[in-house]
Amino acid sequence: MDKETKKSPLISLEHISKSFAEGNVIYQVLKSVNAEISEGECIALLGRSGSGKSTLLNLISGIDKPDSGRIVIGGVDITALSEHRRTLFRRKNIGFVYQFFNLIPTLTVLENVLLPLELNGKNDRSRALELLDEVSLLDRKGDYPDRLSGGEQQRVAIIRALVHDPIIILADEPTGNIDKETGHNILDIMEKFIRKRGKNLILVTHSKEVAKFADRMLLLEEGVLKKQSREIVW
Ligand SMILES: Nc1ncnc2c1ncn2[C@@H]1O[C@H](COP(=O)(O)OP(=O)(O)OP(=O)(O)O)[C@@H](O)[C@H]1O
Ligand SMILES: [Mg+2]
Repeated sequence: MDKETKKSPLISLEHISKSFAEGNVIYQVLKSVNAEISEGECIALLGRSGSGKSTLLNLISGIDKPDSGRIVIGGVDITALSEHRRTLFRRKNIGFVYQFFNLIPTLTVLENVLLPLELNGKNDRSRALELLDEVSLLDRKGDYPDRLSGGEQQRVAIIRALVHDPIIILADEPTGNIDKETGHNILDIMEKFIRKRGKNLILVTHSKEVAKFADRMLLLEEGVLKKQSREIVW
């Protein structure tokens, strides 16, 4: 394919390095990480505890900055943006799903779902209600998160991650804190929502079964990102 017709990747990680200092010791968590992710791709990110998976998600979302290297998303070099612009970029383009749901306890279910819209200066209540209906939680809209089960909270968190129509969903062990069966249900919902809308997903998981749901697996090993073949037996 010649240069003109080659489609550029949606996310491009170019020689990303990141270290953390602990006292006098500096730990290099990510070592010149390179990856290209195409539009609509679902990626499973694997690696041992402490291998830097969450650190990498924080860099892709622009919460943190790499020490060196570039992260280009949809043609925008987010590493070159000011912190304020990076925050605006994140609010608009990224949705998050966390292991511990991270719903705001003092807001109702509906208010939690509306939050990403409000941060973008929108108040599309009907869209929030429609999504709540899609995950069968419309009748819980006035409840506070602590009245919901873990699986229900995660369903709210999934639609909160999608309500503002971001281009990328980052999910950090989204089924890590719920039972297996509910976890499957959560993954089915995520898959349905994300594939239907052609969104990108980067899913951190320790589970081989969960990783199967992705188009491609990437493995972090001692700070180096490697392609993981599906054939490898774990
Ligand atoms: N803000 C920070 N300050 C200092 N060290 C950090 C910071 N964030 C991460 N680290 C260190 O970087 C390494 C990678 O952490 P990270 O949370 O990215 O791992 P992980 O792969 O997500 O692990 P887990 O599977 O347990 O969630 C760890 O050694 C961690 O202690
Ligand atoms: Mg982590």
